[in-house]
Amino acid sequence: MKVFHTVSGLRDDLNKDRRRGLRIGFVPTMGNLHQGHLALVKQARETNDIVVCSIFVNALQFGLNEDWDKYPRTYESDCEKLRESGCDYLFHPDDIEMYPNGLDTQSRVICPTMTDMLCGASRPGHFEGVTTVVSKLFNIVQPDEAVFGIKDYQQLAVIRRMAEDLCMPVQISAAPIHREADGLAMSSRNSYITDEERPRVTVLKQSLEWIAEQIQDGSRDFSKLEQSAGQQLIDAGFALDYITISNSKTLEPAADDDIEITILGAMFTEKARLIDNLSIVLN
Ligand code: PAF
Repeated sequence: MKVFHTVSGLRDDLNKDRRRGLRIGFVPTMGNLHQGHLALVKQARETNDIVVCSIFVNALQFGLNEDWDKYPRTYESDCEKLRESGCDYLFHPDDIEMYPNGLDTQSRVICPTMTDMLCGASRPGHFEGVTTVVSKLFNIVQPDEAVFGIKDYQQLAVIRRMAEDLCMPVQISAAPIHREADGLAMSSRNSYITDEERPRVTVLKQSLEWIAEQIQDGSRDFSKLEQSAGQQLIDAGFALDYITISNSKTLEPAADDDIEITILGAMFTEKARLIDNLSIVLN
């Protein structure tokens, strides 16, 4: 695996690969890699000749009171994992390389759709930071395909919309949620969960599954279902951020006759904010 810290270094190699007609797959990450990330690399490997992965903890997508400074940085072990999983190029820029003119004056990409609701409501500015850095990374790597995890469902939907709106010549692919044996969705922030909380956090997935069962059994009182599932999280000792039953494409509240529905949830443990989602198709 070749490691690049500069945009120009990475571009030089990728330009040569592109001239040779090689197809380029891309997996953007913030590091602290787990099996879920490596599955994205594996998926990119299957359909591309060259796989590029980036590790950059993007300050622009963290709120002032969030965990940018504490975010786990595990560069050496990340490199090891990427080498083993078949990544060809790792792009690991520093803040100056990514934001040479500073964060405050950085031009930004704003996606007005789907960014103020759900995670966007409790993390103002978060998605603007994500769409800005992802567009920059797309411009740097110019991948044929980029792979994102379904665990960050809203992020995936926003990036898809951005790529469509801005005619970005990249195929956006989705990879399934990777889970621990008890069902907890893998996340870099799971390391913030305390031992005492750990057995209880599966309530998030269980509450989404409970809603899915109720809907499949014919229930259409969505707000009552959201309320009851939210109460399940509170009863398990967590603070509720949101539980919503949404249209899978627009993320607007689902209508009674919607066919593709995604149930999304977010809750706070003492030190972490956990998210999960579950999609169903009604016939
Ligand atoms: O999902 C993430 O890890 C980040 O939001 C991303 C897409 C790498 C942008 O910083």
